[in-house]
Amino acid sequence: DPVRFSGVWRFHELLPFAPQDKLVTVGEGQTLLQQTDAVGRYVGLNAGQLHLQYEGMNPSGSFKDNGMCAATTHAGLVGAQRAACASTGNTSASLALYCSATQRMKAVIFIGSGKIAYGKLSQALDYGALTIQIHGDFDDAMVRVKEVSKEMGIYLVNSVNPFRLEGQKTVMYRVLEALRWEVPDWIVVPGGNLGNSSAFGKAFMELKEHGLIDRVPRLAVINAAGAATLYELFENRGVRWNEGRIDSDPIDQYNQKMDQDGIRADTIASAIEINRPVNLKKCLRALDVMDGVVRKVSDQEILDAKAQVGAGGFGCEPASAASVAGAKRLREEGVIAPSDRVVCVLTGHELKDPNATVAYHAGDQEMFDKVLGSRGVTEAKFGNG
Ligand code: F0G
Repeated sequence: DPVRFSGVWRFHELLPFAPQDKLVTVGEGQTLLQQTDAVGRYVGLNAGQLHLQYEGMNPSGSFKDNGMCAATTHAGLVGAQRAACASTGNTSASLALYCSATQRMKAVIFIGSGKIAYGKLSQALDYGALTIQIHGDFDDAMVRVKEVSKEMGIYLVNSVNPFRLEGQKTVMYRVLEALRWEVPDWIVVPGGNLGNSSAFGKAFMELKEHGLIDRVPRLAVINAAGAATLYELFENRGVRWNEGRIDSDPIDQYNQKMDQDGIRADTIASAIEINRPVNLKKCLRALDVMDGVVRKVSDQEILDAKAQVGAGGFGCEPASAASVAGAKRLREEGVIAPSDRVVCVLTGHELKDPNATVAYHAGDQEMFDKVLGSRGVTEAKFGNG
């Protein structure tokens, strides 16, 4: 019974687009909000104030399952036989799992060359998805999958799909539930394609409209320094939601500049190695609704934060730790106060990208150079300390 056992469909009244007997579930959304002072001290918060939302505990090991159950439900309603996505790895793992578990659709996956962590690729392969590697990176794969799915009538499940974002709203419902509906001061989330941040903004906007909460938390979206389009546009070029009348000139100019200079996304946090986020405009709206800020953090900061999350909690993959690194930065800047209650969303499981983790800890110079050296990371911490 999805309505009882899914951490997404428990909230079906707040995403009411499908009849109950058509809801797809593989048991997603059984995730955990953990309060941790060890990591809280690292971030610079008072005792009791840092909470980590472990979305890596989903069936495919990332937050994507929150949205994929909704997207595949909708795909079923419209009779889709095949579903496709471009992915840095987690969306594809999730889609592949839902297709194999339900046996209703075939999964078609587009990935960039050499741009996917092995844990994620192995999931897609094992779950039996048709996996196509293209020349280029995620941004190229995204363009390609849009063309192909349109041409061939394949259902597209990237987060341009609004039903996915409906499912991802429930991450915030569970956070609020765990906090006994006391609204925290900050939600901090890594930013890649900007689906999560968009969904969170929508979740809080609607809860407030329904009168279920009386204020919304502030939002911090954290980019990797090597994939910081949102940061550049929002913090440096002043692009704002502006009641839906977004000035597209600075966006076009920046995209042109990236083309001209041959700038490509580049970060160890491969999940968020994205320079043309498809949900940019929706995210600007979320930043507006939640009085948000955007920061970028280096690969070194991400890996250092990740090790802290591992030592003080359940661990996460590199991209997820951007949230903790970003919270630390905002604390140092004084934007977040020591007494603020902060929720960092940890988007993916510890085991998704073991190479990055081992290279960071093992003191294996060759692996370190191979995995991290080219990424501008200069320092590793070996062992505990
Ligand atoms: N964290 C992880 C672990 C991810 O896999 C992603 C996105 C993000 C953060 C960023 O979330 O796109 O909502 O801003 N991964 C996508 C994928 C792009 O293909 O798996 P976002």
